[in-house]
Amino acid sequence: MPRKDIFNSATVESMLRAPNLKWHTNPPDVIPMWIAAPDFSIAPEIKQGLRDAVEIEDVFYNTDNAAKAAMAEKISRFNKIPVTPDDVTVIQGVDPSLWLAAKHACKPGDEVILTDPMYAPFKSVLDASGAKAVLWELDDGDGYRFDIEKLKMLVTKRTRLIGVCNPHNPTGRVMTKEELNAIADVAIDKKIRIVSDELWEDIVFDDRKHVSIASLSPEIGDLTLTSWGFSKTFGVAGLQLGYMATTNKDAMADMRKQSTGIQRGSSTLAKAIAPIMLGTTLDWWRRDMMRHLTKIRKLCVTRMNKMNGITFPDLEGTYVPFPRFDLGMKSKDLADTLTKEYKVGLSAGIGFGAKGESHLRMCIATSEGIMTEALDRIEAAAEKLC
Ligand SMILES: Cc1ncc(COP(=O)(O)O)c(C=O)c1O
Repeated sequence: MPRKDIFNSATVESMLRAPNLKWHTNPPDVIPMWIAAPDFSIAPEIKQGLRDAVEIEDVFYNTDNAAKAAMAEKISRFNKIPVTPDDVTVIQGVDPSLWLAAKHACKPGDEVILTDPMYAPFKSVLDASGAKAVLWELDDGDGYRFDIEKLKMLVTKRTRLIGVCNPHNPTGRVMTKEELNAIADVAIDKKIRIVSDELWEDIVFDDRKHVSIASLSPEIGDLTLTSWGFSKTFGVAGLQLGYMATTNKDAMADMRKQSTGIQRGSSTLAKAIAPIMLGTTLDWWRRDMMRHLTKIRKLCVTRMNKMNGITFPDLEGTYVPFPRFDLGMKSKDLADTLTKEYKVGLSAGIGFGAKGESHLRMCIATSEGIMTEALDRIEAAAEKLC
């Protein structure tokens, strides 16, 4: 497929032909927007890299060396965190890395500060470590600002970890350097570890720059475990590849020890194409995808802000905006109604925490054609329900 068509060519028919969870969970007449998965074709360089790896039969036991070298190079260059390949671990995705961070930092009864709303698996991996989530509430009324005074009030003697998600799913906020510095000051002052999920680092709008909290100083670098992956930028969640890094050698040694026998990195085929996805070869993809997403965001802002009872947020990053729906229904009931009666599948805000209740999350990484049809259906619902 020519590059110019990659981001805007999806049709309902083409997506239903493809093997994916997103389009095969609801009945086929529903446009699915509930999962953070793009309707884009795969980059030709990634496809070729996979073919090449199969051709040379890279399916035997193999090392992580080339993947880790590419990861360390990208983390040092792009994230400005000074790591070596030894400071990096290859893992099956960002979710398992959150589990590993919780296992490393917490014992049963410890406390972890997480935002509300928050990407839900943060909380479920914590449950596995026996730690307790303490919720740092974000308000849509003040643009989901990360209020540091509120954070300070949540810290106790048992606080071991602060969960940072930047860019933030589901609020779509890209954290400012001031917000990150303020969190870092709290963590350094109280010796609290940070787990920073930066999976969405490439999806930032309007010339914003992603800043990694671990890059702010050596002190915060040593307290931080940072995770990245490929599923949002390149739509390759099925490759099950992510990576985590820290400049803290003891923390990395402990995480390796804790996961021995359970965590085996990722497949040789996924690792073989890591250098392609981490280098600059696919900078054209990042640029063209953001151009396309900027158009789709504009379409949503223009149309949804005119709909009865709907407020579209100021989306700074991610392609999963979290609009507010004041249509007189709880988010779960509204999501069910939209799916069953209006044939458009969004995620209920309550799934992201109590502060998400008046919202639905929608994935807008699709073609203009599919987006327009989805907006028509949401508009019909808003007219009827408001
Ligand atoms: C913030 C965040 N972290 C982690 C994940 C899951 O990442 P992975 O597919 O690499 O496990 C997602 C998926 O939507 C996400 O939005």
